[in-house]
Amino acid sequence: MPSTSILTYFFVAFFAIFVASAPLAVPLPRDVFSPPVIYPGKGTVWHVGERHNVTWNLHNAPKQITNSKGMIVLVKNHTMVDLDTPLAEGFDIRTPYHEITVPQVEAGHDYQILVFGDSGNVGEKFTILP
Ligand SMILES: *[C@@H]1O[C@H](CO)[C@@H](O)[C@H](O)[C@H]1NC(C)=O
Ligand SMILES: *[C@@H]1O[C@H](CO)[C@@H](O)[C@H](O)[C@H]1NC(C)=O
Repeated sequence: MPSTSILTYFFVAFFAIFVASAPLAVPLPRDVFSPPVIYPGKGTVWHVGERHNVTWNLHNAPKQITNSKGMIVLVKNHTMVDLDTPLAEGFDIRTPYHEITVPQVEAGHDYQILVFGDSGNVGEKFTILP
């Protein structure tokens, strides 16, 4: 049956392509960077309207960063407060601090700062007061 051999051929060819291409899909980018937040941390108290420098550690940053644009998001009780309007975005993550204004949010002791490079890292819980 000729159709069987054609099918077999296509199957073998497809399998060969799949096997040949699979190793290319495996390596993860080596130059991703998720910056560890240093400040604010445990014991930090911010008041609404104040300006503060969020800071992060560049020690483990690769020399080449795929996405050098950073974003800072406020987190409360493990939930992002407003991802649509982050505290800051579009700044260069290779500078280890960025000034933000504390937004008008309810008082709480379970706030955290999330800094994104290629992926995100949250800092320790801190307090925001009116
Ligand atoms: C943030 O850091 C920069 C550079 O050190 C400094 O000029 C600026 O005054 C700081 N901002 C605040 C709110 O401390
Ligand atoms: C925090 O979030 C959890 C899960 O969404 C919820 O059950 C809990 O009540 C929240 N705690 C506070 C203090 O809002």
